[in-house]
Amino acid sequence: MTDDAAAPDTTGDASTGDASAATSAPMISMRNVQKHFGDLHVLRDIDLEVPKGQVVIVLGPSGSGKSTLCRTINRLEPIDSGDIAIDGVPLPAEGRSLAALRADVGMVFQSFNLFAHKTIVENVMLAPMKVRKIKKDAARTHAMELLTRVGIANQADKYPAQLSGGQQQRVAIARALAMNPKVMLFDEPTSALDPEMVQEVLDVMVSLAKDGMTMLVVTHEMGFARRAGNRVLFMADGQVVEDAEPEAFFTAPKSDRAKDFLGKILSH
Ligand SMILES: Nc1ncnc2c1ncn2[C@@H]1O[C@H](COP(=O)(O)OP(=O)(O)OP(=O)(O)O)[C@@H](O)[C@H]1O
Ligand SMILES: [Mg+2]
Repeated sequence: MTDDAAAPDTTGDASTGDASAATSAPMISMRNVQKHFGDLHVLRDIDLEVPKGQVVIVLGPSGSGKSTLCRTINRLEPIDSGDIAIDGVPLPAEGRSLAALRADVGMVFQSFNLFAHKTIVENVMLAPMKVRKIKKDAARTHAMELLTRVGIANQADKYPAQLSGGQQQRVAIARALAMNPKVMLFDEPTSALDPEMVQEVLDVMVSLAKDGMTMLVVTHEMGFARRAGNRVLFMADGQVVEDAEPEAFFTAPKSDRAKDFLGKILSH
């Protein structure tokens, strides 16, 4: 199938000089990553390169390690061994540079975790002011641009409890974008939402993808996976069992695990 809309690698090619060696590096690189929780080997030999602008859908049964994979990429979880680099820069173990690198990776979870006693716009302004030391006026201007982008600028002065779940999740996306991340990780961003609110959040994610954001998305929304995904990773028991284009994966999964998994979710 021709898929010219999805070609993610058109921006970097004619890059001017080499401001950093990073320009040609994959946006996410994981090499031989291992992670245990006690005796449980939750990530096994993860080797993954995600080019800039690619949208990767992560699928797999419960407990297969999808959330752990996301959490290791921005070091919410330490790994036992292996290497992870973002835009060519290895993730350090600790300290200040880790905070800066973590800011390059935005993350959106199932639960929105907004600050209840701050307004919507304040929620979006907070991290840029604290972590990036952006002045208040500039932070507010940028926050309002982002709230416009996710379609809720008119809710800026309300508090989280006054918004619907779908609106709160769009605030959470705006909040992550406020740090100007290079990568966005989404861990089941719509699974806590009422069905009628799922689409509005997916629409924001589709538009981010179209704008060229590199994204790794754990989701069971198959329509979104087929429409916005460039690639599917299927995980089982901490391993990447299949790595394929969405159409190929959905129409002709290779492994029994994936066939079984698809049988279950598609018959839902
Ligand atoms: N902090 C932790 N301590 C111990 N074990 C953990 C911890 N976090 C996750 N695990 C275990 O690691 C395995 C992988 O968990 P993970 O949350 O990454 O799976 P998942 O694929 O995201 O599952 P789900 O689809 O249910 O969200 C599971 O067996 C889980 O019980
Ligand atoms: Mg999970």
